Amino acid sequence: MPAEFTNSNLEVLLSNEQITTRIKELGAEITNDYAGQEPILIGVLKGAFVFMADLARSINLKISIEFMAVSSYGKAQKSSGEVKIIKDLDVAVEGKDLIVVEDIVDTGLTLSYLLQNLQSRGAKSVRLATLLDKPEPRINKDLKINYCGFQVPNKFVVGYGLDAAERYRNLPFIAVVRNPEIV
Ligand code: IMP
Ligand code: MG
Repeated sequence: MPAEFTNSNLEVLLSNEQITTRIKELGAEITNDYAGQEPILIGVLKGAFVFMADLARSINLKISIEFMAVSSYGKAQKSSGEVKIIKDLDVAVEGKDLIVVEDIVDTGLTLSYLLQNLQSRGAKSVRLATLLDKPEPRINKDLKINYCGFQVPNKFVVGYGLDAAERYRNLPFIAVVRNPEIV
């Protein structure tokens, strides 16, 4: 691993090798579950872009790729549950099988809104794939994660698409930020 990717404020939690292996497993699972179907992967920007790229290339089906961007109203770091669609889909999803691709599920409020919103557009099915699941702060306990890469502890993590103040999205591994005040 190039030395410049690490610093004293980062503690590696999941290596690139671990992540790569796990995403291939998820891709194989999705390939199997959706045999004969043509699901649309919907990545939630920006965090999901790295996971999306790997997951899409691990699925051996006719898939298509879309992106949405959402933002929570209110305070930046804390999820309020009020979600605003910043960038909507470019296609209609009525009758389609959708797999929402997320970087991390934390409180679950963003996802609850998004999944409901997509369902209300008449999608045939809506499932959720997330690279990381941080179960402890979950507010919506009913949220079902269909495909999960890893469970992580209740700490602030970065890398593989996840940021701290827009930094670290390009780390090829997942790390815990020891002091989130310093990014
Ligand atoms: P929630 O599930 O509605 O609380 O929101 C999840 C979103 O919050 C994710 O898509 C991330 O953008 C962000 N997030 C939550 N936990 C972390 C973290 O540990 N590191 C970086 N971003 C996080
Ligand atoms: Mg996100």
